[in-house]
Amino acid sequence: MAGRVGGTMPLTVATAALACSAPHSALEPASQAGAVIETLWWVLFGVCLFVLVAVLAGWAYAFLRRRPGGEPEGEGRALMWILVAGAIIPGIILAGLTAATIRTSSRIAGAGAADALEVDVVGHQFWWEIRYPEAGVVTANELHIPAGRPVRLRLASADVIHSIWIPRLHGKLDLTPGRSTSLLIEADEPGEYRGFCAEFCGQQHALMGLLVMAQPEPEFQAWLDRQARPAAESADDEARHGRQLFIRYDCHLCHRIRGANFPDPPGQTGPDLTHLASRRTLAAGTLENERGILASWVLDPHGAKPGVRMPATRLEREELFALVAYLEGLR
Ligand code: CUA
Repeated sequence: MAGRVGGTMPLTVATAALACSAPHSALEPASQAGAVIETLWWVLFGVCLFVLVAVLAGWAYAFLRRRPGGEPEGEGRALMWILVAGAIIPGIILAGLTAATIRTSSRIAGAGAADALEVDVVGHQFWWEIRYPEAGVVTANELHIPAGRPVRLRLASADVIHSIWIPRLHGKLDLTPGRSTSLLIEADEPGEYRGFCAEFCGQQHALMGLLVMAQPEPEFQAWLDRQARPAAESADDEARHGRQLFIRYDCHLCHRIRGANFPDPPGQTGPDLTHLASRRTLAAGTLENERGILASWVLDPHGAKPGVRMPATRLEREELFALVAYLEGLR
């Protein structure tokens, strides 16, 4: 589909191994936690490969040595084989891998990070609400973080269980209704990282994408300051008309626009649109944020994402232009 942002499908470990240079490969870590997880990945891969080769070699040996009509092995020897190869060796291997996994988990838990930036991430069907409580900023689907500084993501869910996974930065962690958990991430370098929902949460689970933008601290602070401002005033008559339509068609009952002074209490169901035009993507990292795509998204969101919670809006041509002009003014 035109305008679809590539690579929003969650990856299996197998395809991650094949796509090492992708922006979402766990085998191309961009953080210390990611590097520790990558090491464990290779350990698991190496041990499993060794076991596979050993089992195949044993099978080939038995096959080649078989003598049709020959005497079967003694019962005692057969029992010894079952005990050693079927219980003791697998037991030792599994215990070793369990220990390695527990050690990795404790190394990436990152308990002590006093200077961490706190960011609230709330999972919704099917998008991410992102809040910077200290700055009073609310945005969606694009997580800006300062590079080289720990960020504590405080996770919650508004509906069902979701799971956040930014493969290059950290392992995945569930967002569970009624429970709060936290994930400490840190990007070593400025850059862009893809994130996903990694827990099936409904029809649009596969397209619940997240864009993580790690920026140098001053750039991040400048972005945060801009986001903290209320929405821009509508610049011209068309945009002002669009603002009226935003209210007439009840968009404001779901979408909040800070500083817009709508007649009803601010909506919370859909993404905050205060600075919509400053975002790169629409529809949870799925579509480019571009005029034609924005217009078709407003008219028929189910065309791009069947099952999405936003209803279609029937608009005359001029109305659509006006509404899009208003939304594009929200810089
Ligand atoms: Cu949210 Cu899957």
